[in-house]
Amino acid sequence: MISMTNSIELCNVKDVKEGEMKPFDIEGKQIMIVNRSGKFFAVDRICTHAEADLSDGFLNEDSVVCPLHLSAFNLSDGHPTNPPATRPIRTYKIKIENNKISVEV
Ligand code: FES
Repeated sequence: MISMTNSIELCNVKDVKEGEMKPFDIEGKQIMIVNRSGKFFAVDRICTHAEADLSDGFLNEDSVVCPLHLSAFNLSDGHPTNPPATRPIRTYKIKIENNKISVEV
């Protein structure tokens, strides 16, 4: 079976500090890499409610909180944990090799 995913190297682990959300535009997608307590996540950064940029929001426990109407999205599965957003943001698989972060898109 042919895999439809494409692994793209984005940055070094040192480029995304603890608590930071770093935006990237790749393959027509607007995503961000998040460093939460030393664990890295890759998620869409456009809010599913009214398209605010989540990289302008803030982190709360294991979620990113939208700067506009404060819906929180779980970083692991993308699901919103409070209204007004009802649809999840997409999450992406991350690979770290030789301190380089790659994302499968
Ligand atoms: S734009 Fe994000 S919750 Fe409304």
